[in-house]
Amino acid sequence: RLLIIDFGSQVTQLIARRLRELNVYCEIHPYNRVDEAFLKDFGPKAVIFSGGPSSVFAEGAPMPPEGVFDLGVPILGICYGQQVMMHCLGGKVERGHGTAEFGRAYVTPKDAKLPLLNGWFDEGREQVWMSHGDHVSKIAPGFEVYGTSPNAPFAITADVSRNFYAVQFHPEVHHTPKGAKLYENFVRLAGFTGDWTMASYKDDAIEKIRAQVGDKRVICGLSGGVDSSVAAILIHEAIGDQLTCVFVDHGLLRLNEAEEVVTMFRDNYNIPLVHADEADLFLGALEGVSDPEVKRKTIGKLFIDVFQREAGKIEGAEFLAQGTLYPDVIESVSFSGGPSVTIKSHHNVGGLPEKMGLKLVEPLRELFKDEVRALGRELGLPDKFIGRHPFPGPGLAIRCPGEITKEKLDILRQADAVYIDQIRKHGLYDEIWQAFAAILPLKTVGVMGDGRTYDYALSLRAVTSVDGMTADYYPFTHDFLGETATRIINEVQGVNRVMYDVTSKPPGTIEME
Ligand code: XMP
Repeated sequence: RLLIIDFGSQVTQLIARRLRELNVYCEIHPYNRVDEAFLKDFGPKAVIFSGGPSSVFAEGAPMPPEGVFDLGVPILGICYGQQVMMHCLGGKVERGHGTAEFGRAYVTPKDAKLPLLNGWFDEGREQVWMSHGDHVSKIAPGFEVYGTSPNAPFAITADVSRNFYAVQFHPEVHHTPKGAKLYENFVRLAGFTGDWTMASYKDDAIEKIRAQVGDKRVICGLSGGVDSSVAAILIHEAIGDQLTCVFVDHGLLRLNEAEEVVTMFRDNYNIPLVHADEADLFLGALEGVSDPEVKRKTIGKLFIDVFQREAGKIEGAEFLAQGTLYPDVIESVSFSGGPSVTIKSHHNVGGLPEKMGLKLVEPLRELFKDEVRALGRELGLPDKFIGRHPFPGPGLAIRCPGEITKEKLDILRQADAVYIDQIRKHGLYDEIWQAFAAILPLKTVGVMGDGRTYDYALSLRAVTSVDGMTADYYPFTHDFLGETATRIINEVQGVNRVMYDVTSKPPGTIEME
């Protein structure tokens, strides 16, 4: 396996992604968590130093672990990774002074025979993406230059005898079109054959869970979403009925969703499941509440209370399982606060493990969302379930601006089901990141048959996005929108007006509140 030492770059995740696309197993660990003992234990076959925001001159600048250069394995340094490598091995790094480079640059070859550059300079020069203030001004003894750019005379360097490689640009980003090729060359020269698959990942993960948990009991909070479901099923494969799932049903789920979750886990997978049906409790607490933050806090607090109550009934539990994903882990590395690492808690059960004295099992910690989906497929989860759009923890509450009532929720559930059915029928579901209906806190006048109506207005939303951080509205055809509005108004009682939300994010958010 390959070790990526993270110095805090925004794009470290992309390095791991590129490697997994090459079927190479890798793990990312923050620089301040890697020491000699860790290296020995991990036994990497190759190491990559990521980029990072620091300057090697800064006080307490992140440094690679002792002993890493003596492992005898190939090392690739990227951007800050290159600078820190040169700094440690006897080269020189200097401050910007007019040589900072941000964005597109072109690298030309000095000696294209480097195996790392197989297939690289076919067109004479190659576009790369730079993002650096400091630069290497003298390379370390043993290194040679293999590529230069106008502002980075040492864009590509290597010490072939020691298998050390260092580049100033970011091969992991899309704006370095041949970046993936560079990684491919690196892993090949490090001896990786590309035989890592999701099936082997699953087997390893099961072994790890068994080793961690032993014969102890595990509780898993189930939301019905993909992450917690995959975590639960994986853990169940590992330890069987030592696992109990707790599904806190706040009554704010979509049409038939609670039943589907219960059936899937109890009947299809035979996983012990506690279904805490607490719709009345939650709706009672939300009565008269219209402030979005108060809603969220009310739901969050009750959720934890109910979960804790149910979990407390499970005797002898020592572990709490969470579907934390890799992006959640890496986002939490604190570079400003020194070596301390705080792990972001899963939104629904934050703080619980400490409070209940439980240890964490997080079998998805190293995976990206699409890899969790692949693992889910490996575990036999149906495609339709795996490909579901994201759904927020507070559920329909934040799609019902203003006061929440049972009547409004029922209308919303029906309308949302018709809307999603339309999207599926038109084959658009997988093109859309997230789609849902929201019920607006207003009634308007309409005419149906010969009568006057005074009913709710709905807003439909559908967005495209990569990560939910930014989003654009989905460009449905007018025919589709017209047909959908007609179907909703005909099929759902209590709605007489439908609008389509064409706000992007920013300035809007995806959810209504
Ligand atoms: P916004 O509305 O902030 O949503 O643009 C971005 C993405 O996050 C989801 N979301 C949540 N997910 N708990 C969650 O698990 C929450 O409290 C929450 N709020 C928003 C939202 O559905 C969208 O995918």
